[in-house]
Amino acid sequence: MNFKDYIRVVPDFPQPGIRFKDITTLLKNGEAYRAAIDALRDMVKEKEIDLIAGPEARGFVIGAPLALALGVGFVPIRKSGKLPGDCIEASYSLEYGKDKLAMHRDAIQPGQKVLIADDLLATGGTIATSINLINQLGGEIVGASFLIELSYLNGREKLNGLDVVSLVTY
Ligand code: PRP
Repeated sequence: MNFKDYIRVVPDFPQPGIRFKDITTLLKNGEAYRAAIDALRDMVKEKEIDLIAGPEARGFVIGAPLALALGVGFVPIRKSGKLPGDCIEASYSLEYGKDKLAMHRDAIQPGQKVLIADDLLATGGTIATSINLINQLGGEIVGASFLIELSYLNGREKLNGLDVVSLVTY
């Protein structure tokens, strides 16, 4: 399946000059969504994985079904102030904007093997911050999987040789 056929590119959103990759057009197609999750599962199924961690909000849409497909648990990485329990936090910057990400302190037990999942690797800021949080909790990061990689933003280089897989590259 050519997943690019299902991803809508929206020019000048949310700012002039940004060509936004809209995955809602893929998600609403059950066959394409299923195929994308199956393909991501196949790319990581040889790994030993205890948990998937996914950053809000679009990371949930990829990470949670991937966790189910792999038969492992899912832990959310949320924007600051959203999680009810005791949290750790880290600041990050995006392709556009800045924020803080948080995880529950008890989300990961030291030594658990964690795969990060998100819809998009752009500058890598979100994933670098997710790595920071998972490392603080003592998780062992076994890789990161994305639906889309914007290779022209060189996000991969920020991830210090982490095993990165993506379905679609622009
Ligand atoms: C988007 C996207 C990734 C991140 C990629 O999320 O879903 O998480 O940006 O950019 P980066 O590699 O430059 O960090 P966003 O923060 O817009 O949140 P959303 O999923 O809630 O829309």
